Amino acid sequence: MKVVVGITGASGAIYGYRLLEELSKAGCEVSIILSDMGKQILRTECRKNEGDLQALGTLFSNDDLTAPIASGSQLFDAAVISPCSMKTLASIANGITSNLLTRVADVALKERRKLILVTRETPLSLIHIRNMLRVTRAGAVVMPASPGFYHDPKSLGDLVDHIVGKVLDQLGIKNELYRRWGS
Ligand SMILES: Cc1cc2nc3c(=O)[nH]c(=O)nc-3n(C[C@H](O)[C@H](O)[C@H](O)COP(=O)(O)O)c2cc1C
Repeated sequence: MKVVVGITGASGAIYGYRLLEELSKAGCEVSIILSDMGKQILRTECRKNEGDLQALGTLFSNDDLTAPIASGSQLFDAAVISPCSMKTLASIANGITSNLLTRVADVALKERRKLILVTRETPLSLIHIRNMLRVTRAGAVVMPASPGFYHDPKSLGDLVDHIVGKVLDQLGIKNELYRRWGS
């Protein structure tokens, strides 16, 4: 399965990093795009840099609008932006494709491919909510980074893995990252 993963400058870079680890384990072909703020937050929150991601996929510059994945003719299966900032959400909701991340999201929507946005912000303004509505109507799946507590989490990792597991579920990738209700 070919997946594009974007990490933006919303808090929660760990949601992107853990997802990359799991996609790599699952044998997916992964393309990675980091926004400038995504790089900073990844460094601050996870103590990781671009070098640490190289083993998990192919890195593309967010400025490189000539990258193969910028075109609908490149048949990636899904794009996940995790975490997704309100700024990147706003760009996608309004069809603004000024960087590779937002262009890939736009391609996913126009080609009717899976687009998953792991949004992170609280509280939400009406603008944020309207943008979520717009992208949902256009076909994206908005998955706020709000872990559940019904799976008896024991650690921060368990909470992160609840969200990552739900993203993998959306991608159709079998996983046991969290205990499912009733099992
Ligand atoms: C420490 C820190 C945490 C942030 N957390 C969030 C957040 O959770 N959600 C959000 O939408 N923006 C957050 N921001 C602001 C974004 O980084 C900022 O809007 C940026 O322009 C997003 O750009 P990008 O989408 O290109 O990465 C945060 C910024 C900093 C410095």
